[in-house]
Amino acid sequence: MSQRERMPRVRTYLMCPPEHFTVEYAINPWMDTTVPVDAALAVKQWDLLRTTLVDLGHTVHLLDPVAGLPDMVYAANGAFSVDGQVYGARFRYPQRSAEADAHRAFYAGLDQNSWQLVAPEHVNEGEGDFAYLPGAHGGLILAGYGFRTEPAAHAEAQEVLGRPVISLRLVDPAFYHLDTALAALDDHNITYYPDAFSPSAQRVLAQLFPEAVLADRADAEAFGLNLVSDGRHVILNTEATAMADKVRAAGYAPVHVELSELKRGGGSVKCAVAELRP
Ligand code: ARG
Repeated sequence: MSQRERMPRVRTYLMCPPEHFTVEYAINPWMDTTVPVDAALAVKQWDLLRTTLVDLGHTVHLLDPVAGLPDMVYAANGAFSVDGQVYGARFRYPQRSAEADAHRAFYAGLDQNSWQLVAPEHVNEGEGDFAYLPGAHGGLILAGYGFRTEPAAHAEAQEVLGRPVISLRLVDPAFYHLDTALAALDDHNITYYPDAFSPSAQRVLAQLFPEAVLADRADAEAFGLNLVSDGRHVILNTEATAMADKVRAAGYAPVHVELSELKRGGGSVKCAVAELRP
């Protein structure tokens, strides 16, 4: 693999504190309503993630948490933006549907000359199922379907955002969102766990990203693919040690954060962080 120097790019993120975080329903295989969540610990761990991003020079906006929306901490699911166009979310499960309104209100409060919000017709869970690679093939969107986002939303996203959208079928319920199985490491390269995808989707990924960092099942189960990268620093949870070795070998700088509580809801670093792309 060619080892160019990995340069960070300053980012703007959106996060939502887990003040009301609980596991009171189960909509993915990781959620167990019989195991209590330590909400105070969740807030503490989440805050360390936030300060880690700020200390790396990034801007983090905050979304006000809403009582009764325990999954709101997974801010990645609320929208997907490219070049100031914001494609809103429409959640699969009714328990989360009101989160889309909170995200819509956030974007409506931004400078409307720079941000254009588009309400979706089709079910899609924002950056949970969409990733953007600005430097790959002139700007490419990768999109997952099979558990949450409808394939029709991929075509809708392409119309709204004006970038080619590559549809990838997810086949393993443990990796129900694209961001549990694949992540952008920088503007042009990705890391992914091949077996989370259909054989055809695996072929598509191998064709488009011959230099991808390949992860294995243990990496994915440790939520090692649910990472946030600024192009150099790769923020991933402490459990994902083998994944950290893989990204280090590829020239990136892994930064660990402990997010044990958020894993109980079926998410980790990336789920908790939405990127705003002006
Ligand atoms: N409990 C949430 C759900 O099942 C977790 C969402 C995780 N978010 C993500 N971007 N993968 O919807």
